[in-house]
Amino acid sequence: MKQKILKHIRKANAYISGEDLSSVCDISRAAIWKHIQELRHDGYDIEAVPNLGYRLVSSPDKLLPEEIKFGLDTKIVGKNIYHYDVVSSSMDTAFKLALESSDEGTVVCAESQHAGRGRLGRSWVSPKSKGIYLSVILRPHFSPNEAPRLTLLTALAVCEAIKKITGIDCQIKWPNDILVNEKKVGGILTELNAEMDRTKFVILGIGINVNTKKNFLPARATSLKEEKSEAISRIELVREILRQIDHLYLVFQKEGFAAILEKIKHLSSTLNKRVKAISQGKEIEGQATDIDKDGALLIRKDSGFLEKIYTGDIIRLR
Ligand code: BTN
Repeated sequence: MKQKILKHIRKANAYISGEDLSSVCDISRAAIWKHIQELRHDGYDIEAVPNLGYRLVSSPDKLLPEEIKFGLDTKIVGKNIYHYDVVSSSMDTAFKLALESSDEGTVVCAESQHAGRGRLGRSWVSPKSKGIYLSVILRPHFSPNEAPRLTLLTALAVCEAIKKITGIDCQIKWPNDILVNEKKVGGILTELNAEMDRTKFVILGIGINVNTKKNFLPARATSLKEEKSEAISRIELVREILRQIDHLYLVFQKEGFAAILEKIKHLSSTLNKRVKAISQGKEIEGQATDIDKDGALLIRKDSGFLEKIYTGDIIRLR
């Protein structure tokens, strides 16, 4: 109901009377007042003027479901959105929800995480309300070894969304980093619950340094605010990310990974570079020549031998 009331106050774009609200929402004026109080408690500044009604003055800078859902026209992603002020990691919260059989497309957003994590056991610094820390539950019908494709799909979605909302050009450093001007602005973490040949669910974790100040960032990292020299709306960015994932995931399901691979390659900062890959304890040096239909990176060694790696850390040599 809160969401419905908010929708009408927004739509009015000026004052809307308690009487009109109570008739469109089909509840009493006293009930409207109660919900307005709750919205104020959530951080909405709603003015109430006798004989005029209610007017939305400002919305809170929080990734609240009712904010994200406003104008979100997705088919799968974001139908259910959970919001928390603090979590250990949105991955853990999403994992629990998925085990409790939450729908595909369920999203978990956190304002902060006290044990945010990245790939290979690294930590993900998550200062309160500065970045985007979210996880999406998907239930794809594929075998676990296809999951790296979803990491790249999500990285592409994030790059497209950042471009659309901020105008900033990002690149994908295989397999999961989002770079701006060669500095890390975000990362994707993909975790699975799977049997040998069946994926039960996938959790896509997305971390983006949005309005994070330089002194909170790890070395060689940046934030969108640092790059653009202005604050960025986290709500608009999250909404666009969910739209992009929804769109690309539908294309991926209908037409396969090949249908989005060219775009991923186009944004890759790794391809056509000399690299050293550290993959499963092995060092591989050579020219990164391609990302194949599995989402794997192909490296041509100096011997001419082509190595295919599915995961690893990449160091760009020149
Ligand atoms: C990486 O670059 O290694 C991936 C970073 C992923 C961070 C996000 S923040 C939301 C979600 N929750 C986590 O604990 N990690 C991911």
